Amino acid sequence: MLFIENLDVRGKTVFCRVDFNVPLDDRGEIRNDTRIRASLPTIRFLLDGGAKLVLCSHLGRPKGKPDPKMSLRPAAVRLAELLGREVLFAADCIGPDVEAQKAKLHDGQALLLENVRFHNEETKNDPAFARELAAGIDIFVNDAFGSSHRAHASIVGITDFVPLCAAGTLMKTEVDHLRKAVVSPAKPYVAILGGAKVEDKIPVIENLLHLADHILIGGAMAYTFLKAQGHDVGKSMVEPDKLAIAAKIMAEARLKGVALHLPIDHVLTASIESGTVAKVVDSYPFPAELMGVDIGPKTVAEFSGIIARAKTIVWNGPLGVFETPAFAVGTVKIAEAVAASGAMSIIGGGDSIAAVDKAGVGSKITHISTGGGASLEFLSFNTLPGIDALEKGSHA
Ligand code: 3PG
Repeated sequence: MLFIENLDVRGKTVFCRVDFNVPLDDRGEIRNDTRIRASLPTIRFLLDGGAKLVLCSHLGRPKGKPDPKMSLRPAAVRLAELLGREVLFAADCIGPDVEAQKAKLHDGQALLLENVRFHNEETKNDPAFARELAAGIDIFVNDAFGSSHRAHASIVGITDFVPLCAAGTLMKTEVDHLRKAVVSPAKPYVAILGGAKVEDKIPVIENLLHLADHILIGGAMAYTFLKAQGHDVGKSMVEPDKLAIAAKIMAEARLKGVALHLPIDHVLTASIESGTVAKVVDSYPFPAELMGVDIGPKTVAEFSGIIARAKTIVWNGPLGVFETPAFAVGTVKIAEAVAASGAMSIIGGGDSIAAVDKAGVGSKITHISTGGGASLEFLSFNTLPGIDALEKGSHA
């Protein structure tokens, strides 16, 4: 894979796919610009190197037609503020007007295209659309690690229609760190998995069964595993159609000698909306009207002990209903334990990152990934469709 650092971009028209999929509030203002900031090293490198820079991203899931609520215009404004220089904006990502704007760019000037998902050809990886994106482009740079698990036109298809492909700085940093967790990781290796759904985590758990020494499971997905063990978990969220796979995963873990840990005590509530703890229990059955919403103090102690001995930690997904302060305690305590461990630690996924921020320990984490789904998929397969396409395109 080529990196931008090895290229002379002066005078070249460079199409850089970034992941500016940032959260917006009701007034269309950016709530968190982490992803824009994370792209700055690549953008600065290209602009300082004299590229005519065309930036492309998606925002949200607009279903293939323009939706003003998902315009990237606010991202252009924020990027200009962060860079301290002008960022032009194109009202579309393809078509004659955009071509004219691209052709007029000076060396060291940036143009952000409108949301590429306003065309449904993007998510279909349509070759004709990819060719239009590539019109007049000398070099394709992928810096959108967080979107590279999507085989979309601006990530994958475009690489067939440009003379040269390269990875940006963010992409390189993400891949370098995540590879350390996949290729000969230091042991003991502890994986912490939370979040709502078992379904989203099946491939990653299956791969972690070959890598990890301990898998710590929390969040709503833990209740599907507990139910599969035959426990009565009251009103807790259980995925009935995933009970069999949960049982299979636990059997495989036993066979491979991987210690799969489930919570040993639970914070229960009558309803998430109430925002109040009804009781903490360490036995079954749960009262029929209550549901589990966080790991309890005994689980925090057990998990923290395992984390303290780890040399490699990967974490994705909160261990409770983290948005509600009363149910966020377990997740925050685990963030503190990860930070104190001294292990090589990698965290991905919006809620886990928010937990680390809330615990004020972000600086003690080795790598905070900008990709939630992408980092999970990378940990499962040691590559992503966008990375494969880049590797193919680099040698074209
Ligand atoms: C993300 O937020 O995980 C990426 O930007 C990808 O977005 P998507 O899940 O809508 O493809």
